[in-house]
Amino acid sequence: MKKKPSRRGSHSTHKHLPPPKRRPSQKKSSPGTVPYVWAIAALEGTQDIVRDELTGRFGKSCSFIDHPRNDEIHLRFTDDPRELLSLSTAQTLLLRRDFDVIRPRTLLSPEHTAAVVRLFSDAQNIKGVSPPASFRFDAAGSGSPTMRRIAEQVEKQLGIPFDPETGDGVLVFRPGKPGWEVMCRVGNRPLATRDWRRVNYLGSLNAAIASCMVELTRPARGDRYLNLMCGSGTLLIERLRRLQAQLAVGIDISDDALTASKHNLEAAGFTDRVRLISGDAQDICFPDASFDAIATDLPWGERLGSRETNLTLYRGTFKETARVCRAGGKWVVLTQDIDSIRTVLAEAQDLWNVIDERTILQRGYQPFCATLQRK
Ligand SMILES: C[S@@+](CC[C@H](N)C(=O)[O-])C[C@H]1O[C@@H](n2cnc3c(N)ncnc32)[C@H](O)[C@@H]1O
Repeated sequence: MKKKPSRRGSHSTHKHLPPPKRRPSQKKSSPGTVPYVWAIAALEGTQDIVRDELTGRFGKSCSFIDHPRNDEIHLRFTDDPRELLSLSTAQTLLLRRDFDVIRPRTLLSPEHTAAVVRLFSDAQNIKGVSPPASFRFDAAGSGSPTMRRIAEQVEKQLGIPFDPETGDGVLVFRPGKPGWEVMCRVGNRPLATRDWRRVNYLGSLNAAIASCMVELTRPARGDRYLNLMCGSGTLLIERLRRLQAQLAVGIDISDDALTASKHNLEAAGFTDRVRLISGDAQDICFPDASFDAIATDLPWGERLGSRETNLTLYRGTFKETARVCRAGGKWVVLTQDIDSIRTVLAEAQDLWNVIDERTILQRGYQPFCATLQRK
Protein backbone atom coordinates (compact mmCIF):
# COMPACT_ATOMS: atom_id res chain seq x y z
CA MET A 1 0.00 0.00 0.00
CA LYS A 2 3.01 2.23 -0.08
CA LYS A 3 3.15 4.90 -2.75
CA LYS A 4 6.05 7.22 -3.35
CA PRO A 5 5.11 10.73 -2.29
CA SER A 6 4.51 12.91 -5.32
CA ARG A 7 7.06 15.67 -5.63
CA ARG A 8 6.03 18.88 -7.28
CA GLY A 9 7.98 21.11 -9.61
CA SER A 10 10.63 20.24 -12.15
CA HIS A 11 13.30 22.87 -11.77
CA SER A 12 16.57 22.07 -10.11
CA THR A 13 19.23 24.65 -9.45
CA HIS A 14 21.61 22.67 -7.30
CA LYS A 15 23.96 21.69 -10.11
CA HIS A 16 25.16 25.31 -10.24
CA LEU A 17 25.75 25.66 -6.55
CA PRO A 18 29.11 25.98 -4.79
CA PRO A 19 29.70 23.29 -2.14
CA PRO A 20 27.52 23.74 0.96
CA LYS A 21 29.01 26.14 3.51
CA ARG A 22 27.14 24.84 6.51
CA ARG A 23 24.42 22.43 7.54
CA PRO A 24 21.16 24.01 8.71
CA SER A 25 21.47 22.31 12.08
CA GLN A 26 24.60 24.29 12.84
CA LYS A 27 22.80 27.58 12.75
CA LYS A 28 21.91 28.53 16.29
CA SER A 29 18.78 30.43 17.10
CA SER A 30 16.24 30.42 19.85
CA PRO A 31 12.83 29.15 18.75
CA GLY A 32 11.33 30.31 22.04
CA THR A 33 11.28 33.90 20.84
CA VAL A 34 9.47 33.17 17.56
CA PRO A 35 5.67 32.68 17.37
CA TYR A 36 5.73 29.10 16.10
CA VAL A 37 2.95 26.55 16.06
CA TRP A 38 3.40 22.80 15.67
CA ALA A 39 1.47 21.03 12.93
CA ILE A 40 1.05 17.28 13.00
CA ALA A 41 0.02 15.57 9.80
CA ALA A 42 -2.53 12.91 10.72
CA LEU A 43 -4.38 10.99 8.01
CA GLU A 44 -8.08 11.70 7.70
CA GLY A 45 -9.84 8.97 9.62
CA THR A 46 -7.13 8.81 12.30
CA GLN A 47 -7.27 12.31 13.80
CA ASP A 48 -9.14 11.25 16.95
CA ILE A 49 -6.52 8.57 17.63
CA VAL A 50 -3.62 10.99 17.11
CA ARG A 51 -5.28 13.54 19.41
CA ASP A 52 -5.75 10.80 22.03
CA GLU A 53 -2.04 9.98 21.80
CA LEU A 54 -1.15 13.65 22.23
CA THR A 55 -3.44 14.27 25.19
CA GLY A 56 -2.75 10.87 26.75
CA ARG A 57 1.00 11.38 26.68
CA PHE A 58 1.44 15.12 27.03
CA GLY A 59 -1.78 16.36 28.68
CA LYS A 60 -1.72 20.06 29.42
CA SER A 61 1.48 20.63 27.46
CA CYS A 62 -0.70 20.61 24.33
CA SER A 63 -3.12 23.39 23.52
CA PHE A 64 -4.91 22.70 20.29
CA ILE A 65 -5.54 25.44 17.75
CA ASP A 66 -8.46 25.34 15.34
CA HIS A 67 -7.39 24.74 11.76
CA PRO A 68 -9.57 24.03 8.71
CA ARG A 69 -7.56 21.04 7.41
CA ASN A 70 -8.88 17.55 8.14
CA ASP A 71 -5.47 15.95 7.85
CA GLU A 72 -3.51 18.08 10.30
CA ILE A 73 -3.61 18.90 14.00
CA HIS A 74 -2.21 22.29 15.00
CA LEU A 75 -1.09 23.02 18.53
CA ARG A 76 1.17 24.88 20.87
CA PHE A 77 3.42 22.60 22.86
CA THR A 78 5.10 23.68 26.07
CA ASP A 79 7.13 20.52 26.75
CA ASP A 80 10.46 19.52 25.14
CA PRO A 81 9.79 19.33 21.36
CA ARG A 82 11.89 16.15 21.24
CA GLU A 83 8.92 14.37 22.77
CA LEU A 84 6.89 15.01 19.63
CA LEU A 85 9.38 12.99 17.59
CA SER A 86 8.19 9.83 19.31
CA LEU A 87 4.55 10.18 18.26
CA SER A 88 3.65 6.84 16.75
CA THR A 89 0.21 7.45 15.26
CA ALA A 90 1.12 10.61 13.27
CA GLN A 91 2.59 10.84 9.78
CA THR A 92 4.75 13.94 9.97
CA LEU A 93 5.80 16.70 12.33
CA LEU A 94 6.01 20.27 11.03
CA LEU A 95 6.87 23.65 12.48
CA ARG A 96 4.64 26.50 11.29
CA ARG A 97 5.11 30.21 11.12
CA ASP A 98 2.51 32.66 9.82
CA PHE A 99 3.49 35.54 7.60
CA ASP A 100 1.38 38.65 7.34
CA VAL A 101 1.72 38.94 3.56
CA ILE A 102 -0.88 38.94 0.81
CA ARG A 103 1.25 37.36 -1.94
CA PRO A 104 4.20 34.96 -1.73
CA ARG A 105 6.18 37.52 -3.72
CA THR A 106 6.45 39.60 -0.54
CA LEU A 107 8.31 36.69 1.05
CA LEU A 108 11.22 37.67 -1.18
CA SER A 109 12.06 40.59 1.11
CA PRO A 110 15.32 39.99 3.03
CA GLU A 111 13.46 40.08 6.34
CA HIS A 112 10.95 37.41 5.28
CA THR A 113 13.50 35.18 3.57
CA ALA A 114 15.59 35.26 6.74
CA ALA A 115 12.50 34.23 8.74
CA VAL A 116 11.86 31.29 6.39
CA VAL A 117 15.49 30.21 6.70
CA ARG A 118 15.29 30.51 10.45
CA LEU A 119 12.10 28.42 10.50
CA PHE A 120 13.95 25.73 8.53
CA SER A 121 16.95 25.83 10.88
CA ASP A 122 14.83 25.84 14.04
CA ALA A 123 12.85 22.86 12.79
CA GLN A 124 16.10 20.88 12.42
CA ASN A 125 17.76 22.08 15.62
CA ILE A 126 15.80 19.71 17.82
CA LYS A 127 18.07 17.14 19.41
CA GLY A 128 17.78 13.74 17.76
CA VAL A 129 16.62 15.08 14.40
CA SER A 130 18.49 13.99 11.26
CA PRO A 131 18.77 17.23 9.29
CA PRO A 132 17.98 17.26 5.56
CA ALA A 133 20.76 17.45 2.99
CA SER A 134 18.59 19.30 0.45
CA PHE A 135 15.11 20.78 0.31
CA ARG A 136 12.02 21.01 -1.85
CA PHE A 137 8.81 22.99 -1.81
CA ASP A 138 5.32 21.70 -1.32
CA ALA A 139 3.20 24.53 -2.69
CA ALA A 140 0.65 25.22 -5.39
CA GLY A 141 2.66 26.84 -8.17
CA SER A 142 5.96 25.70 -6.70
CA GLY A 143 7.54 26.01 -10.16
CA SER A 144 6.46 29.64 -10.64
CA PRO A 145 9.10 32.36 -11.11
CA THR A 146 8.37 33.77 -7.63
CA MET A 147 8.76 30.41 -5.92
CA ARG A 148 11.96 29.76 -7.88
CA ARG A 149 13.38 33.04 -6.69
CA ILE A 150 12.40 32.21 -3.11
CA ALA A 151 14.09 28.82 -3.56
CA GLU A 152 17.29 30.49 -4.82
CA GLN A 153 17.43 32.85 -1.87
CA VAL A 154 16.70 30.18 0.71
CA GLU A 155 19.27 27.92 -0.98
CA LYS A 156 21.94 30.61 -0.71
CA GLN A 157 21.29 31.27 2.95
CA LEU A 158 20.81 27.66 4.03
CA GLY A 159 23.80 26.36 2.11
CA ILE A 160 22.02 23.19 1.01
CA PRO A 161 20.66 22.56 -2.49
CA PHE A 162 17.11 23.07 -3.64
CA ASP A 163 16.01 19.81 -5.23
CA PRO A 164 12.36 20.08 -6.26
CA GLU A 165 12.03 16.35 -6.97
CA THR A 166 13.84 14.54 -4.20
CA GLY A 167 14.75 17.15 -1.60
CA ASP A 168 14.59 15.49 1.82
CA GLY A 169 13.73 18.74 3.59
CA VAL A 170 10.24 20.08 2.96
CA LEU A 171 8.94 23.64 3.08
CA VAL A 172 5.19 24.06 2.68
CA PHE A 173 3.76 27.38 1.49
CA ARG A 174 0.02 28.00 1.43
CA PRO A 175 -2.55 30.72 1.98
CA GLY A 176 -3.52 31.10 5.63
CA LYS A 177 -6.31 32.99 7.30
CA PRO A 178 -5.14 35.70 6.89
CA GLY A 179 -1.70 35.92 5.28
CA TRP A 180 0.47 32.91 4.37
CA GLU A 181 1.42 29.84 6.35
CA VAL A 182 4.92 28.49 5.93
CA MET A 183 5.65 25.12 7.46
CA CYS A 184 8.83 23.13 7.62
CA ARG A 185 8.95 19.38 8.12
CA VAL A 186 11.09 18.39 11.06
CA GLY A 187 13.88 16.07 9.93
CA ASN A 188 14.69 14.38 6.67
CA ARG A 189 11.76 11.96 6.57
CA PRO A 190 8.24 11.50 7.92
CA LEU A 191 7.68 10.22 11.47
CA ALA A 192 5.86 7.23 9.99
CA THR A 193 9.11 6.03 8.37
CA ARG A 194 10.55 3.78 11.02
CA ASP A 195 14.15 2.83 11.75
CA TRP A 196 13.16 -0.78 12.24
CA ARG A 197 11.96 -1.24 8.65
CA ARG A 198 14.76 -3.18 6.95
CA VAL A 199 12.63 -5.00 4.40
CA ASN A 200 10.07 -3.16 2.30
CA TYR A 201 7.67 -6.00 1.69
CA LEU A 202 5.08 -5.60 -1.09
CA GLY A 203 1.89 -4.20 0.45
CA SER A 204 3.51 -3.35 3.79
CA LEU A 205 1.33 -1.14 5.93
CA ASN A 206 2.12 2.46 6.79
CA ALA A 207 3.48 2.23 10.35
CA ALA A 208 1.38 5.11 11.69
CA ILE A 209 -1.80 3.42 10.41
CA ALA A 210 -0.60 0.21 12.07
CA SER A 211 -0.07 2.13 15.28
CA CYS A 212 -3.63 3.51 15.07
CA MET A 213 -4.95 -0.04 14.57
CA VAL A 214 -3.01 -1.13 17.65
CA GLU A 215 -4.69 1.66 19.65
CA LEU A 216 -8.10 0.44 18.48
CA THR A 217 -7.39 -2.93 20.16
CA ARG A 218 -7.01 -1.01 23.48
CA PRO A 219 -3.69 -2.74 24.24
CA ALA A 220 -3.02 -4.22 27.69
CA ARG A 221 0.08 -5.89 29.12
CA GLY A 222 -1.65 -9.20 29.60
CA ASP A 223 -2.77 -9.43 25.97
CA ARG A 224 -2.32 -12.56 23.94
CA TYR A 225 -1.95 -10.78 20.61
CA LEU A 226 -2.18 -12.25 17.10
CA ASN A 227 -1.14 -10.45 13.93
CA LEU A 228 -2.87 -12.64 11.38
CA MET A 229 -1.51 -12.30 7.80
CA CYS A 230 1.46 -10.48 9.31
CA GLY A 231 3.37 -9.72 6.07
CA SER A 232 6.51 -7.82 7.08
CA GLY A 233 5.43 -7.60 10.73
CA THR A 234 4.31 -3.96 10.92
CA LEU A 235 1.35 -4.66 13.22
CA LEU A 236 3.51 -6.90 15.41
CA ILE A 237 6.27 -4.39 15.84
CA GLU A 238 3.98 -1.43 16.42
CA ARG A 239 2.10 -3.44 19.06
CA LEU A 240 5.28 -4.33 20.95
CA ARG A 241 6.68 -0.80 20.71
CA ARG A 242 3.50 0.37 22.39
CA LEU A 243 3.37 -2.13 25.26
CA GLN A 244 4.66 -5.56 26.11
CA ALA A 245 2.28 -8.47 25.62
CA GLN A 246 1.92 -11.82 27.32
CA LEU A 247 2.06 -13.53 23.92
CA ALA A 248 2.72 -12.12 20.43
CA VAL A 249 2.19 -14.29 17.37
CA GLY A 250 2.56 -13.53 13.66
CA ILE A 251 1.05 -15.89 11.07
CA ASP A 252 1.45 -15.69 7.30
CA ILE A 253 1.17 -18.16 4.46
CA SER A 254 4.13 -16.70 2.53
CA ASP A 255 7.76 -17.55 3.30
CA ASP A 256 8.89 -14.21 1.87
CA ALA A 257 6.56 -12.41 4.27
CA LEU A 258 7.90 -14.36 7.24
CA THR A 259 11.49 -13.61 6.22
CA ALA A 260 10.64 -9.92 5.97
CA SER A 261 9.00 -10.06 9.42
CA LYS A 262 12.06 -11.81 10.84
CA HIS A 263 14.45 -9.11 9.60
CA ASN A 264 12.23 -6.25 10.74
CA LEU A 265 11.67 -7.84 14.15
CA GLU A 266 15.43 -8.28 14.54
CA ALA A 267 16.00 -4.61 13.75
CA ALA A 268 13.30 -3.65 16.25
CA GLY A 269 14.92 -5.88 18.90
CA PHE A 270 11.79 -8.01 19.34
CA THR A 271 12.92 -11.38 17.95
CA ASP A 272 12.69 -13.12 21.32
CA ARG A 273 9.25 -11.81 22.07
CA VAL A 274 7.42 -13.09 18.99
CA ARG A 275 6.42 -16.46 17.56
CA LEU A 276 6.36 -16.39 13.77
CA ILE A 277 4.33 -19.19 12.24
CA SER A 278 3.87 -20.31 8.66
CA GLY A 279 0.19 -21.07 8.22
CA ASP A 280 -3.20 -20.40 6.69
CA ALA A 281 -5.48 -17.79 8.24
CA GLN A 282 -8.39 -20.13 7.54
CA ASP A 283 -6.92 -22.89 9.66
CA ILE A 284 -5.12 -21.34 12.64
CA CYS A 285 -2.96 -23.73 14.68
CA PHE A 286 -4.20 -22.53 18.09
CA PRO A 287 -7.01 -23.79 20.33
CA ASP A 288 -10.31 -21.93 20.73
CA ALA A 289 -10.23 -18.57 22.57
CA SER A 290 -6.40 -18.35 22.53
CA PHE A 291 -6.22 -14.59 21.84
CA ASP A 292 -7.47 -11.37 23.45
CA ALA A 293 -6.62 -9.12 20.51
CA ILE A 294 -6.10 -9.75 16.79
CA ALA A 295 -5.00 -7.32 14.08
CA THR A 296 -5.15 -8.06 10.36
CA ASP A 297 -4.28 -6.12 7.24
CA LEU A 298 -6.10 -8.34 4.74
CA PRO A 299 -4.95 -8.75 1.12
CA TRP A 300 -6.68 -5.88 -0.67
CA GLY A 301 -6.98 -7.71 -3.99
CA GLU A 302 -4.84 -5.12 -5.76
CA ARG A 303 -1.15 -5.84 -5.53
CA LEU A 304 -1.75 -8.80 -3.20
CA GLY A 305 -4.52 -11.36 -3.61
CA SER A 306 -7.42 -10.82 -5.99
CA ARG A 307 -10.96 -9.49 -5.77
CA GLU A 308 -12.18 -12.84 -7.17
CA THR A 309 -10.71 -14.89 -4.34
CA ASN A 310 -11.05 -12.36 -1.51
CA LEU A 311 -14.63 -13.19 -0.59
CA THR A 312 -13.82 -16.85 0.03
CA LEU A 313 -10.61 -15.94 1.88
CA TYR A 314 -12.35 -13.33 4.05
CA ARG A 315 -15.18 -15.77 4.90
CA GLY A 316 -12.75 -18.47 5.99
CA THR A 317 -10.68 -15.96 7.95
CA PHE A 318 -13.70 -14.49 9.77
CA LYS A 319 -14.75 -17.99 10.84
CA GLU A 320 -11.30 -18.86 12.20
CA THR A 321 -10.71 -15.55 14.01
CA ALA A 322 -14.10 -15.99 15.70
CA ARG A 323 -12.89 -19.36 16.94
CA VAL A 324 -9.48 -18.26 18.27
CA CYS A 325 -10.62 -14.93 19.77
CA ARG A 326 -12.00 -15.10 23.31
CA ALA A 327 -15.47 -13.73 24.04
CA GLY A 328 -15.12 -9.96 24.52
CA GLY A 329 -11.79 -9.94 22.65
CA LYS A 330 -11.14 -7.53 19.77
CA TRP A 331 -10.22 -7.89 16.12
CA VAL A 332 -9.13 -4.85 14.12
CA VAL A 333 -9.25 -5.52 10.42
CA LEU A 334 -8.30 -3.33 7.46
CA THR A 335 -8.82 -3.64 3.72
CA GLN A 336 -9.58 -1.64 0.63
CA ASP A 337 -11.86 -4.39 -0.73
CA ILE A 338 -14.99 -2.77 0.70
CA ASP A 339 -17.51 -5.02 -1.09
CA SER A 340 -16.02 -8.22 0.26
CA ILE A 341 -15.59 -6.97 3.83
CA ARG A 342 -19.11 -5.51 3.92
CA THR A 343 -20.56 -8.81 2.70
CA VAL A 344 -18.65 -10.82 5.28
CA LEU A 345 -19.42 -8.38 8.11
CA ALA A 346 -23.12 -8.71 7.35
CA GLU A 347 -22.84 -12.51 7.36
CA ALA A 348 -20.89 -12.55 10.64
CA GLN A 349 -23.33 -10.50 12.73
CA ASP A 350 -23.93 -13.43 15.08
CA LEU A 351 -20.22 -13.67 15.87
CA TRP A 352 -18.94 -10.11 16.02
CA ASN A 353 -20.19 -6.70 17.15
CA VAL A 354 -18.82 -3.81 15.10
CA ILE A 355 -17.67 -1.29 17.73
CA ASP A 356 -15.86 1.15 15.42
CA GLU A 357 -15.58 1.65 11.70
CA ARG A 358 -13.74 4.28 9.73
CA THR A 359 -12.29 5.04 6.32
CA ILE A 360 -8.70 6.23 6.27
CA LEU A 361 -7.59 8.57 3.49
CA GLN A 362 -4.03 7.86 2.44
CA ARG A 363 -2.84 9.40 -0.82
CA GLY A 364 -5.27 7.88 -3.26
CA TYR A 365 -6.09 4.87 -1.08
CA GLN A 366 -9.14 4.71 1.14
CA PRO A 367 -8.88 1.58 3.26
CA PHE A 368 -11.77 0.67 5.52
CA CYS A 369 -10.94 -0.27 9.09
CA ALA A 370 -13.38 -2.10 11.37
CA THR A 371 -12.93 -2.88 15.05
CA LEU A 372 -14.92 -5.93 16.03
CA GLN A 373 -15.68 -7.39 19.43
CA ARG A 374 -16.29 -11.12 19.79
CA LYS A 375 -19.79 -11.84 21.09
C1 LIG B 1 -1.69 -6.76 2.96
S1 LIG B 1 -0.51 -7.98 3.31
C2 LIG B 1 -0.07 -7.65 4.96
C3 LIG B 1 1.01 -6.62 5.03
C4 LIG B 1 1.47 -6.35 6.42
N1 LIG B 1 0.49 -5.67 7.22
C5 LIG B 1 2.76 -5.55 6.41
O1 LIG B 1 2.80 -4.44 6.95
O2 LIG B 1 3.73 -6.00 5.79
C6 LIG B 1 -1.47 -9.41 3.43
C7 LIG B 1 -0.72 -10.66 3.82
O3 LIG B 1 -1.64 -11.74 3.88
C8 LIG B 1 -0.93 -12.93 3.57
N2 LIG B 1 -1.91 -13.97 3.22
C9 LIG B 1 -2.66 -14.08 2.10
N3 LIG B 1 -3.44 -15.16 2.18
C10 LIG B 1 -3.20 -15.74 3.37
C11 LIG B 1 -3.71 -16.89 4.04
N4 LIG B 1 -4.65 -17.66 3.50
N5 LIG B 1 -3.23 -17.19 5.25
C12 LIG B 1 -2.27 -16.43 5.83
N6 LIG B 1 -1.74 -15.34 5.24
C13 LIG B 1 -2.21 -14.99 4.03
C14 LIG B 1 -0.02 -12.50 2.43
O4 LIG B 1 1.07 -13.38 2.30
C15 LIG B 1 0.38 -11.09 2.87
O5 LIG B 1 1.60 -11.12 3.55
